[in-house]
Amino acid sequence: MPDLADLDYFADADLAQNPYDYWEYLRGQGPVAREPHYGVVAVTGYQEVHAAFKNVDCFSAVNAIGGPFPPLPFTPEGDDISELIEAHRHLFPIFEHMVVMDPPHHEKARSLLGRLLTPRRLQENEEYIWALADRQFDEFIGNGQCEFLSEYAKPYATLAIADLLGVPDEDRPKLRRNLGAGSAPDHQVGALDSTPVGSNPLKYLDDLFSEYIADRRSNPRDDVLTGLATATYPDGSTPPLLEVVRPATFLFGAGQETVVKLLSSALQVLGDRPDLQQRLRADRSLIPAFIEESLRFESPTKVDFRLARKSTTLGGVPIKAGTVLMLCLGAANRDPRKFDNPGEFDLDRKNVREHIAFGRGIHTCAGAPLARVEGRVTLNRLLDRMTEFHISEQKHGPHEQRAYAYEPTFLLRGLSELHIEFTPAPEG
Ligand code: HEM
Repeated sequence: MPDLADLDYFADADLAQNPYDYWEYLRGQGPVAREPHYGVVAVTGYQEVHAAFKNVDCFSAVNAIGGPFPPLPFTPEGDDISELIEAHRHLFPIFEHMVVMDPPHHEKARSLLGRLLTPRRLQENEEYIWALADRQFDEFIGNGQCEFLSEYAKPYATLAIADLLGVPDEDRPKLRRNLGAGSAPDHQVGALDSTPVGSNPLKYLDDLFSEYIADRRSNPRDDVLTGLATATYPDGSTPPLLEVVRPATFLFGAGQETVVKLLSSALQVLGDRPDLQQRLRADRSLIPAFIEESLRFESPTKVDFRLARKSTTLGGVPIKAGTVLMLCLGAANRDPRKFDNPGEFDLDRKNVREHIAFGRGIHTCAGAPLARVEGRVTLNRLLDRMTEFHISEQKHGPHEQRAYAYEPTFLLRGLSELHIEFTPAPEG
């Protein structure tokens, strides 16, 4: 057993496979404790992560995605580095996207999403998602087995967002393929549609949506993209093209991988627990609680970052301006001070909805309602379409010795593959 104190959270391949013992070790040092390799302060306590999210005056989101990478483009000096952050903001990764913005710019960018995520749009989108789930199952249900991420979760999560944004039907197969979500067996994409995405899917999406929005601004139609193209800021002004495009395209970045990870961790548990499968089959109203416990148990966004703009304290620990905080959502969601027996998957957990998998405060996940719908619909239709399903022993080993590989990233938590076997329900 390596000494936990020496491990490098950001580089250790084994930690990516199982971060939980390490986080427990860190929490043992204190819910707010310095990590040895990059000087990052790791926050593993629920209360402390919550407090950091809420304190936008002292903690900037400018490094939310990259944390200590790349290193700060300036040398912090003094007890308030707000001006230094603003002067160098354009040097931070994805600085144009709302998730790394601070007030007042963040509020403006997020207001455009409000125009998109209306209750009516979400309702229409949910109707599409029910049909989408069936179409995805149709692609492999006759096989009695599947690799769940590539055959279901990836195309499903991509197409759900494409519909939310009103991507025209005829463009969806191209988008699905270009975002790495495969092609439907009977729906091959024509040669003219094979625009390569290259290494930057957000850039590809920015270009695609710039075309859509520019077109809808000059030729308004009765569709979702026109609604987005004509959205105004709260003060009535019309945003420049890219300022509408970015909140829209960011949804793909934020809502694809995370949902894939949620769906696969939910199925992983359900595939190994016939007792829980039986309970959900008998009482579908338990499905939302099952989804919440899945989010708590294996939080898809493992960690999130903040930069201390002012010297302050967190959980009684002094934090100097310029310190990088790593908010460990996956650890906070297993903090025993908040959740009893946190390492156990408990469908009856009373306070499960207090998990922090979607963050808190001004940056709280804008897509949480969609993610929850995607989870609920998938489990409902899966239980309808399969009379029984289980984890493939051939691919993952026998029940007590399962072998699962997780994506080797410090940011997200999720399986690389999940092979299941099932008995299709009789049609009709
Ligand atoms: C299980 C799935 C998901 C998880 C675990 C998740 C998690 C998160 C977390 C933790 C944040 C906060 C980041 C921060 O404070 O630094 C966030 C923000 C965000 N999420 Fe999600 N997310 C999920 C699905 C989605 C989906 C489906 C969408 C959209 C379709 C979405 C869109 C966003 C956006 C736009 C933000 C930025 C909000 C802002 O900065 O104001 N997310 N998400």
